[in-house]
Amino acid sequence: MLILGIESSCDDAAAAVLETTAPGIAEIRSSTVANQDDIHRAYGGIVPELASRNHVVTIAPVIERALATAGCTLADIEGIAVTRGPGLVGSLLVGLMFAKGLAQAGGIPMVGVNHIEGHLLAPLLENRIAMPYLALVVSGGHTALFAVQDFARYRRIGRTRDDAAGEAFDKVAKLMGLGYPGGRAIDEMSRRGNRKSVRIPRAHVKGAPLDFSFSGVKDLAASFQEAVVEMLVKPTIAAARELGTDTIALTGGVAANSRLRDALTEAAAADGRRLVAPALKYCTDNAAMIALAGGYRLLRGERDTLGIDAEASLAL
Ligand code: KG4
Ligand code: ZN
Repeated sequence: MLILGIESSCDDAAAAVLETTAPGIAEIRSSTVANQDDIHRAYGGIVPELASRNHVVTIAPVIERALATAGCTLADIEGIAVTRGPGLVGSLLVGLMFAKGLAQAGGIPMVGVNHIEGHLLAPLLENRIAMPYLALVVSGGHTALFAVQDFARYRRIGRTRDDAAGEAFDKVAKLMGLGYPGGRAIDEMSRRGNRKSVRIPRAHVKGAPLDFSFSGVKDLAASFQEAVVEMLVKPTIAAARELGTDTIALTGGVAANSRLRDALTEAAAADGRRLVAPALKYCTDNAAMIALAGGYRLLRGERDTLGIDAEASLAL
């Protein structure tokens, strides 16, 4: 079954074409993303109104590019999977309304997909993983541990009580003047920093901004990153033990973090477990994961009506 995935829950507009033969088994024919970092950078964060307005401009070209790269047209598409929440409602609406239009015009079955389910299943895109597995979802909006028991059967076993890990990265990066989005900047800077330097540079403590040297910033970045990584790794390993799962899947934008990947790979191996992390382009927001998450339901013959709504805080 040839599935078109559409994702526009936050600041990325994405489309993908997947050929799926069985639940969770798919060949990625194309996956395209229109990134909005350049638009939001000047504001140091995502401006919802600008995000949705920009989606209106990019959604059609992104879908056209996904179809063209896959070497097919809308007439070949047998199912549409579209994110309906959670996310920014103005952003969600653009992808969802476009999907409804395509479904209606082409007589194509459509299902609405939960964005988090997409992240949870993304590790299956390029790996064979037996269920149940444990998934650590770490992104700009979410930080949680889920037991992925089966398709459509997910149990949240841990979550952040306040900020998401990616949000913490972005806030600290902003404070340090590292630009937007800052997660990657901290990651890169930390490679040259001392992550054991728990001492905040004196210049910072004494409030003397002219003394705030570059090396201090990089040590601060490395120490901050190490703290976040440790705070993610420990409960993840504990959860894997509790569940008795051999496989830990790491997913979401912060899964791009090199130190987190290394530390979790090491901790998992030391505990006799395997870490599976998707390729970076499938960790961050993308439509291939949405096509996969909608794909198993379309294969079963499920479909949603054109009456479904976008839901900013859709529960999984
Ligand atoms: O999954 P994603 O693309 O969007 C959401 O659904 O939130 O995640 C984006 C988040 C941002 O907070 C960004 O700073 C963070 O992922 N991020 C990173 C790295 N690359 C992206 N955080 C730490 N280290 C990185 N290398
Ligand atoms: Zn996401």
